[in-house]
Amino acid sequence: MKDVYVGIIGLGNVGSGALTILNKNAEQISQKLGFNLRVAAVCSRSVATKEPEGIPADALRTTDWREVIAHPKVDVIAELVGGTTVAREIIDGAIAAGKSIITANKELMALEGAEIWDRAIKARINLAMEASVAGGIPIHAVLREGISGDRVVALAGILNGTSNYILTEMERRGESFDKILGEAQALGYAEADPTADVDGYDARSKLALLSALAFGERITPSDIYVEGIRRITTLDFDYAHQLGHTIRLVCSAEQTPKGLLLSVRPALIPQTAILAGVRGAYNAVWVKGQFGQDTFYYGRGAGPNPTGVAVVSDLMRVAREINSGSPERVSPFAHERLGEYQPVSITLQHRPYYLRFRVDDRPGIIAQLAGILASKQIGLEAVLQLPSDTKDNLPFVITVEPSSEQAIREAVAEMSQLDFLREPPLALPMEPPL
Ligand code: HSE
Repeated sequence: MKDVYVGIIGLGNVGSGALTILNKNAEQISQKLGFNLRVAAVCSRSVATKEPEGIPADALRTTDWREVIAHPKVDVIAELVGGTTVAREIIDGAIAAGKSIITANKELMALEGAEIWDRAIKARINLAMEASVAGGIPIHAVLREGISGDRVVALAGILNGTSNYILTEMERRGESFDKILGEAQALGYAEADPTADVDGYDARSKLALLSALAFGERITPSDIYVEGIRRITTLDFDYAHQLGHTIRLVCSAEQTPKGLLLSVRPALIPQTAILAGVRGAYNAVWVKGQFGQDTFYYGRGAGPNPTGVAVVSDLMRVAREINSGSPERVSPFAHERLGEYQPVSITLQHRPYYLRFRVDDRPGIIAQLAGILASKQIGLEAVLQLPSDTKDNLPFVITVEPSSEQAIREAVAEMSQLDFLREPPLALPMEPPL
């Protein structure tokens, strides 16, 4: 069988990880495939000034990605630049040139994956995107192959390592969000602009993509309710612990008779839940199938080597298909045309809720809050107040019985008008054991 040649575009974390693995693992990769997988061209902004480890001496080095696509030897393009502008041009260029594509691009695939895949099939090329979600966890292969015979009824996960690291360090060390974020930025774990990670947008793209594959619906990030972790304090962990819970940024997709409920938000989860054991920068995905019931997948969500493994494994699969002449011609998004699950507003979700207040203390506060809850038919479950010496910024928590998100939002809006509140109430759903 003929050797297959790869063109790598983008030598950031993922690209350099993939290059290292292709180089260091070359012999074993050849043995597994029965032919060689060779790097014929690399493109990176810094390729002229910096020589990344593992580029073969005879490979083309360029700062122009078009030269990689046009390179006559290159069979497969690895698009590892991220974002939605140049990456889209690269993918379009590869399709036009009839070259297969590996991508790690969650943003672009979450937005346009179905259309891109359709065009790739028409062009009779192959496309693979394992590295786009939860780098080290082969979750695309699970949804597309491992459990594809089942019908997924729910999926929940921790899909952003940065926010999970921040939350679990706050919990472990009792330090503030700002302090842990600052440390993570200084160590290079968190971006200088942490918005995508701590406000939930990165996780939302990943959930959009996983939900599209799992449920077969046209799901875009805008279908998903998103809320970040900036308002979580160490005090919330203290109260959550009192309730036998912890707090994680939970990505959730749940089939209900009303439709598909989709959210990325901080939530209380029982300390005994399997997701509660996911700490630091790890990711995890729990999937519930109608027939196979629960399966759980755990691993590193990012980093050059774990994500590099996903890229190289995709390259190997596509290379096999190029050599066997059997490109995969069914889109992983194809079953979305069944249209069985429609995304619906998160306001329809029912959960018990944790409501945390900070008040300027005075008599009658609980009575007023309870009155608002009662007016929305929300049943009060418990009132918790840990000792505090600050009467003018007094924290306490009310938990309520299962209620609709809509009723909770209305109650929170009304409560936010009360003059004794130091800030709007923090409302977090309390998730069932996963
Ligand atoms: N920034 C992401 C995270 C990794 O913190 O999980 C890349 O998807």
